Formats: sequence, C-alpha cells, structure tokens
Amino acid sequence: MGKMVIYPGSFDPITNGHLSILRRALTMFDSITIAVASNPIKKPLFTLDERIATIRESIKDDDRVFIDSFSGLLVDYVVNQKTNIILRGMRALSDFEYEFQMSLMNRKLNKNIQTIFMMTDYKWLYTSSTIIKEAASLGGDIKGLVPDIVCQRLKEKFGY
Ligand code: PNS
Repeated sequence: MGKMVIYPGSFDPITNGHLSILRRALTMFDSITIAVASNPIKKPLFTLDERIATIRESIKDDDRVFIDSFSGLLVDYVVNQKTNIILRGMRALSDFEYEFQMSLMNRKLNKNIQTIFMMTDYKWLYTSSTIIKEAASLGGDIKGLVPDIVCQRLKEKFGY
C-alpha cells in the first residue's frame, strides 16, 4: 500500500482552491482521503451529506481519492486510517496563526502525526469558503471560484 494522506476540513463548501491543493498533492501521494469534519465549531451552511455530495460530484471518479467524514479528534481519525500525515492548504499570512496553533495542538495530542502544508496557488490566495458564501448570499457572482455544482447549490440555498 502506498503513502496515504488525510486532507481534513469543513469543506463548507468545497472550493476550487481546495481542488487545486488536492490535484497538486496527488503528484506526491498515492492516495488522499478528504475528511469532512462533521462537527466543526463553525455552524456549517451545508449539512454533512450535502458537503460530501458536492465533493463527490466535483471530483468525479478518481480511484486515488476517498471521501469520508469524521467527528471527534482529527488525530484519532488519522490513526484509525492507518496513516500519520495531515495535509493542509495555506493561503495568506492570516492563515498562519490558526494553522500553526492547530498543528501544534495536534502534535501535542499525538507526536507521531505530521502536518504538512501546501501553499495555495496565487489564484486562490484571497478566496475562502466563508467569503464565497458571503458573496453568494448577497447575490454576488462566484463563478470560477467554486465547482459548478457548488455554484448551483449556493444559489439554491440562498433562493435565487
Ligand atoms: O476547513 P477548516 O474549518 O479550517 O477545518 C478545520 C478542521 C476541521 C480541520 C479542525 O477544526 C479539526 O481538526 N477539527 C476536529 C477536532 C479536533 O481534532 N480539534 C483539535 C485539534 S485543533
């Protein structure tokens, strides 16, 4: 079995920035499990099932990519998946503190687990699920920032 990495997040919703990290990571790892957090502290706009369905549709068929959900501690999930690598994307400097804190906490919880970071492509530097949701909620055009299926689901959510 080759090297597998866990790519965790809220994915509320998945963006083209996430997909870019995923594609690039597939050049380094044999398989990637997208682990959708079922109980993020942030109240998600999309249900867990909706988030998983849009991810599945955005990725189409790639037998190197698995989609799963988890609750509880991420490090426990990673151990259960029989790997020791967490992948996170990093955008502007503003991400750094949060990511640093999270990876240090995960490291405190389990020293065997490594977090690796990939810098986002400049195209996605200033996009995030949060800002995309805000723009979409106000009727803004978010085409090109998210997969088409997400565009569609956001429009349905916000009723236009
Ligand atoms: O996409 P996000 O919202 O930045 O993802 C954050 C996520 C889900 C990776 C993080 O909140 C998480 O790992 N939650 C699981 C709970 C946990 O393990 N917390 C302790 C480590 S900080």
